[in-house]
Amino acid sequence: MKQDGLLDELPSRFSKTAWGRIGAFCGALWMRLLLAPMEGLADDVLRDILTRIGGYDWGVTEFVRVSGTLLPARAFRRICPELERSSRTAAGTPVRVQLLGSDPGCLADNAGRLSELGPAGIDLNFGCPAPTVNRHRGGAALLEEPKLLHAITQAVRRAVSAEIPVTAKMRLGVRDTALTLDCARALADGGAEGLVVHARTKADGYRPPAHWTWIGRVAEAVAIPVVANGEVWSEADWRRCRAESGVTDVMLGRGAVADPFLASRIRQGLPDSGRDPGAEWRCLESSVLDFWQQVGRKVAARHAPGRLKQWVNLLRRCYPGAQALWTQLRDARTAPDVSRILAVSLVDPAARLAA
Ligand SMILES: Cc1cc2nc3c(=O)[nH]c(=O)nc-3n(C[C@H](O)[C@H](O)[C@H](O)COP(=O)(O)O)c2cc1C
Repeated sequence: MKQDGLLDELPSRFSKTAWGRIGAFCGALWMRLLLAPMEGLADDVLRDILTRIGGYDWGVTEFVRVSGTLLPARAFRRICPELERSSRTAAGTPVRVQLLGSDPGCLADNAGRLSELGPAGIDLNFGCPAPTVNRHRGGAALLEEPKLLHAITQAVRRAVSAEIPVTAKMRLGVRDTALTLDCARALADGGAEGLVVHARTKADGYRPPAHWTWIGRVAEAVAIPVVANGEVWSEADWRRCRAESGVTDVMLGRGAVADPFLASRIRQGLPDSGRDPGAEWRCLESSVLDFWQQVGRKVAARHAPGRLKQWVNLLRRCYPGAQALWTQLRDARTAPDVSRILAVSLVDPAARLAA
């Protein structure tokens, strides 16, 4: 099933007046929506599904860890198979590749090699809170070393040609916000041309709330575009995030996975009150099957059920249909079990046929 413009097929309780459409169109012109990097969750398969549903200006891959060696091209292509397709998903959405490391020289060498593969951009990770990553002086741990952030960004910027955007993604700090602005300035002065701010410290983990007002403080401190990120699960959240932060561009993380139509709805100016979860779910059923088939081709059969359950588990937040599917999938252990459940559970006849 072709999924571009899926939202158009959904019954809508909004009046699609000319003024409404013009307003949404103008809004879409001056704001950007980005799909967040999510290691172990949003790989090329999910990026493909989500960007076909649409609404994103670009997405960012999971991080490629750089530590001490010059990685072969296949290491970048493994995380970003989109490099084979001009760094775009099948729907044509650009995908930037994220690097994580702490050695400016080594990151620069790897960025140079990556740049030969034609990435839509290179993003630097200063937000990962994982203890194993932080122990090796990577991700959010570097937010205590603004000078190092500057050195890394400068080295990477110098290693790649000017037409490849170099951006950075940061949290507010390790334990507190004492160095937030110093870090942001270090990244901007180092040559980052954009900054995504996940509005929590490493210590906050993924616990709500996200401190959106801090994103505004960062935006005032630097002269580069700042993108807001954290805890945007709905159109109303998106509005509040923009109002509280004062920035126009937003990166969607888990909200994009739980509600695959979120970006399209925001783009079309459709509020949450007009959602029709039943109709959306019927559209999503073929995406769920598509996901299952792609995952089956990509990962070992024993890992495939876990991947599907991970997505359906998040979809449960937004869709009663996903809750029903989850109840059946929860105890399924093998790929054939999952295939059987999908074949009988999904309503869409075309989807059933494909299963
Ligand atoms: C499972 C998972 C994996 C993530 N992996 C990455 C990553 O590889 N690189 C990165 O910069 N951020 C990563 N993040 C952080 C997200 O990009 C985002 O900043 C965070 O989830 C906050 O946004 P949200 O509240 O909209 O989900 C990850 C988050 C999750 C939940």
